[in-house]
Order: sequence, then C-alpha cells, then structure tokens
Amino acid sequence: MRTTAVAHPNIALLKYWGKQDAPGNLPATPSLSITLDSLTTTTTVAEADSDQFRLNGQVAADAKVLRTLANWRRDHPIPPLAISSRNNFPTAAGLASSASGFAALATAVDAHCGLGLTKAERSELARRGSASAARSIHGGFVTLAGPDWRAAQLLPGAAWPLRVVVAIAATGPKAVPSTEGMERSRTTSPHFDAWVASAAPDFAAMKQAVSTRDFAALADLAEASCLQMHALMFSSRPPLLYWTGATVECLRTIRELRAEGCQVFATVDAGPQVKAVCEPRDAERVEAALRRIGGVAETLQAGLGPGATASIQRAISANACCSLHS
Ligand code: DP6
Repeated sequence: MRTTAVAHPNIALLKYWGKQDAPGNLPATPSLSITLDSLTTTTTVAEADSDQFRLNGQVAADAKVLRTLANWRRDHPIPPLAISSRNNFPTAAGLASSASGFAALATAVDAHCGLGLTKAERSELARRGSASAARSIHGGFVTLAGPDWRAAQLLPGAAWPLRVVVAIAATGPKAVPSTEGMERSRTTSPHFDAWVASAAPDFAAMKQAVSTRDFAALADLAEASCLQMHALMFSSRPPLLYWTGATVECLRTIRELRAEGCQVFATVDAGPQVKAVCEPRDAERVEAALRRIGGVAETLQAGLGPGATASIQRAISANACCSLHS
C-alpha cells in the first residue's frame, strides 16, 4: 500500500520570522498567507524496514525530516517509512518548499497510518516540521496564530482570486536556511522586540483588509511586513542578505507599476525571488515587466490554490492499483 499526498507552497503576506522560546516550533508572531495552485509538492509514503527519504529522485539525508518523524512518533503509531517527495519548482530557494513539503508529508502520513486527524491536528503536525507548513494544510487565505498555533482558513481563494507572479532571481539553494536565519535574528537583531510588538495590530489590520477585499490596505501591510522582516535580517549579526540586484530591481519595478495604477504589491521571503501579488487583470503586464529585468532567469504565475489532499493506492495485482480515498 502506498499513499500519495499533494500540497502547495504558501506565500506569507504577514511574515513569520522568529520562534518562541518554547517546545513545539511555535512562532513568536502570527502570520497570514496565500496558498498557491500551480506549484506542487507530491509526496508518496510506503512502509519500509527503516526510514528512507528521496527528494526529487535523489536519496537525501534530511535531518529535519528524520527529526520531525521522530517527534510525530511520540504521539502517533507511525511505522518506518520510505518517503519520496518531488517539487515541480526550485527546492529551498525561497519558494516555500519546506511549507509544501511538510504539509504533504503530514497529510500522507495521516492518511497512510489511519491516524484520523482533523485538519487542525494535521496543521499542528505539519507545524512541528516547519511552522509555515501549518498554513499549507489549507487553501486560499490562511492564518496561523495563537493560542493554539494551528492554521485556519480565513477566506477561500475563489472569494478573492488574486494572482501571483514569481520572478526567479536565482535557482540555487539558499545560503542560510530559514530556521537558522530566524534564530540569528531573534538573538542578535536590535529590532526583534519591535517586530514582535507590531505583529498583533498588523495581524488584526491584515485580517480586516482580506475580509473586506481592500487591496490597497493589504498591499501596504504586506510590503511593510516583508520589508520589516528583511530589516531584521539585515540587522542580524552576521547579517542575512538574501537579495540579489535583480530582487531590488523587481521591487522598484513593482512600485512603478503601482504608481501607474496597477493593483500589485511585492513580497520576498528567505531567498532572492520576488512574488508580485496582483489583481488578475494586471497579471500579464506585471509578468512582462518583471521578465524584462536583467538577472530574472524565469517568471511563473500562480493563482490561489487548495489545501493538501491525499489518496491511498492499494496494489490489487502486479500492474494495477485502485484509489481508495481522497
Ligand atoms: C520567510 O517555516 O521555513 O518564509 O518553522 O523553522 O521550518 P521553520 O521555518 P519556515 O520559515 C518561513 C519563513 C518565511 C516567512 C513565512 O513563511 O512566514
């Protein structure tokens, strides 16, 4: 028996950067994200003699995956698993592959082992792997906040079908992984306490902007959150500089487009890629403008997508199988 789950990355509009000093991988601040559609992680699990992990066809000794499985086994009966995961987009380059990766893994393990988890419980399992993954359990606009730190859907994507244009400024893996980078910021940036203090009012304002489909308010809040997070990164010791020249050029171009009347704003995570969030009517113009920038290797577009799902394949003969659950 094999179980396959599909999950999509999410892009935080209100960022999570820094953890609480407590067990459970709890963020220090609430966050709000959108789940994408065309970018996917597909993860298949099957029972094995010992845990094995393959990423994009290659055997990978991923300590975070093995540690997370050990953590899940404290509460759930999970046998040794052969796990095979594939991304249809660059891995570990600031495109939220760990979000879709742990959301897909939690969803596959839940279905495969018959754990019978609710979405909220599955979101907690995913969060223990990577906090942003808690949000990819759900589709559309998603919040992750205390006191339970389980993600919840705020609005389905169809209720406000924004588009996201991703400008790929570099495809290699990132220099400093998020987990390490955010801990460096928490312990060394003089601005960390101010970041935590501003999170609750910004979260309330952003939920309101999404609920009322107020694009201008959402744009203001999202760009402020992104640039404050990068200010934390710049002010860490040693500093974290994820941007390239093309990142800056994309940010400048997106501001120009907005001044010309396009409904678009930018956000950047722990990598050089720029994500331009826009109204559908402006997506082609935004993509054409970003594609012209030197240093942008590629652009891609996504809409807002669904949460993570799983299906079980039970082999009924050597060359046939049937899908039992989705
Ligand atoms: C910049 O969720 O990858 O994408 O919980 O340590 O695995 P861990 O961190 P992770 O950090 C994501 C950081 C971010 C912002 C965000 O997605 O909110």
